[in-house]
This record gives sequence, C-alpha cells and structure tokens, in this order.
Amino acid sequence: MLGVYLSGTGNTKHCVEMLVNLLDYEAQCIPLEHPQIIGLLENEDTIILGYPTQFSNAPIMVRDFIKKNSNIWRDKKVFCLNTMGLFSGDGTGCAARLLKKYGAIILGGAQIKMPDSVCDSKLLKKSIEENKTIVRTADARIEQIAKQMLQGSYPKEGLSFISHLKGLFGQRLWFYHKTIGYTDKLKISDNCVGCGLCSRECPMQNIEIKNGKAVAGIQCTMCYRCISLCPQQAITLLGDTVKEQCRYSKYI
Ligand SMILES: Cc1cc2nc3c(=O)[nH]c(=O)nc-3n(C[C@H](O)[C@H](O)[C@H](O)COP(=O)(O)O)c2cc1C
Ligand code: SF4
Ligand code: SF4
Repeated sequence: MLGVYLSGTGNTKHCVEMLVNLLDYEAQCIPLEHPQIIGLLENEDTIILGYPTQFSNAPIMVRDFIKKNSNIWRDKKVFCLNTMGLFSGDGTGCAARLLKKYGAIILGGAQIKMPDSVCDSKLLKKSIEENKTIVRTADARIEQIAKQMLQGSYPKEGLSFISHLKGLFGQRLWFYHKTIGYTDKLKISDNCVGCGLCSRECPMQNIEIKNGKAVAGIQCTMCYRCISLCPQQAITLLGDTVKEQCRYSKYI
C-alpha cells in the first residue's frame, strides 16, 4: 500500500497518513511532487490517493498527474480520499472517474470535513477551537473508516451518480472557469523579503526568486501552501489580504 497526496495546508497529508497508518503501519505516504513517485507507484498494487476539494473539483495538478501518467493505473486498486471545508459533492468521484478510465479499480471513497484552507477570505473562517473540534471529528471518522476497510467494506462517498449531480450543479459548473487549468493570478506584494520559503515549498515550482523578490509564474494549482507559510503574509490569490494563515498543525 502507498499513500499519495496533494496537500496545501496539511489537512489532506494528515488524513492520508492517519488512514494509511491504521491500515498498514509499514506503508509509506508521499506527496504528489515526490521525485520518485512514478517508480513507487509502479511497485504498489493498492493506492490511497488524497487531495483537497477545490470548487467541488479535484485540483488541476491531481487531474493532470493522473492523465500524464495514464499508463500506470491499469489494475491498480485505488481508494480516493478527499478533504473539504464544507461541501464537495463528488470530490472523490472527480479523480475516481479519470482513474477508472485508465483501468484502475476504485475501492471506494471518503470525503472528510477539515478546516478551510483559503487564507485570504473571511468566508468559512472558523475559530481555532471550532477547527480543533473539526479535526477531532475527522480523526474519529478516519478511525471508523479504517476499521470498516480492514473488515473488507469500503465507503463509497462521492462516487454515486447523485453525488456527481450534487457536485456538478452545487458548485463545479458555476466555478468551472476557476478549475479548468492552472492560474496566473497569484499576487505577491512589496512586503516580500525574498526569503525563498514559498519557492522551496511550492509543489508546482511556480515561484522563483529574482533580484531578492519572489516572482510567481502561471502554473499555480491553488493549493494555498505558499500563502499559508509566507512569514510576511505577502502572498494572496482569491482575496486581497491574508486573514489567517491556515495550517493543520495549529488545530491539534
Ligand atoms: C482554491 C480552493 C477552493 C476550495 N474549494 C472548496 C470547496 O468547493 N468546497 C469545500 O468544502 N472546501 C473547499 N476548499 C477547502 C479545502 O478543500 C479544505 O480546506 C482542504 O481540507 C484543504 O486541504 P489541504 O490542507 O490538504 O490543502 C477550497 C480550498 C481552496 C484552496
Ligand atoms: S515566503 Fe513570502 S517573504 Fe519569503 S520569498 Fe516568498 S513571498 Fe517573499
Ligand atoms: S504558487 Fe502557492 S498556491 Fe500556487 S501551487 Fe505554488 S504553493 Fe500552491
């Protein structure tokens, strides 16, 4: 078994690591940007694939990764784990349908509510205490899901036709333009001191340091990692000011 995840603020990383650890404590978990990911995936039969919901869709980096490596999925058994702030409809289904197209066997799916990762909008913002409760509830659910899976029964959240309709009409259609490709809308303010953290951490290598300042490219997958980490709060994407830098580690 191999856990693979895209995680901006650490929510999905935590959920995948916890689930994988409960299922097989010797199994490894790696981020999608891991340099040896293809070799590691080729050697495993069972994959737990995790990613955050973005406008009821899978992040473009995840969809692209599945498509670009379409030859590795045949006969792989994949369980999709999707984290969300509130609602994802068919968050798991978005990757599962693609994987199925390339020959994967979908074991099931889980959609787990976690703290919202959008740092530059007040919408959905919760207090630290509320987020701690959300994380505790999520942990209890993951334990439950692991127990179920160890007994051979896999949850199928987000994989039904009804979920597909909910995701499509609940959100995805209206925000289609936001998730159709990578974005060039990342903004970096003059507060940047060129520390390079954002550039080192970006899973898309979308930020360069030029003349002592961070410069964003056009390949942002909207993970919010750089925005949540920048010590100067100099980076924004959907909003114009950083309200609260979100990190899973703040809520435990
Ligand atoms: C660009 C963007 C869009 C999002 N859209 C949704 C959404 O449609 N529904 C939802 O419930 N959460 C949404 N979220 C919240 C994340 O899915 C959620 O916080 C997730 O757990 C973040 O996981 P991570 O820390 O592993 O990146 C969105 C987050 C971002 C950054
Ligand atoms: S993390 Fe912030 S301060 Fe550091 S280089 Fe990036 S934008 Fe500049
Ligand atoms: S630029 Fe920032 S938000 Fe965009 S993919 Fe890189 S780390 Fe994520």
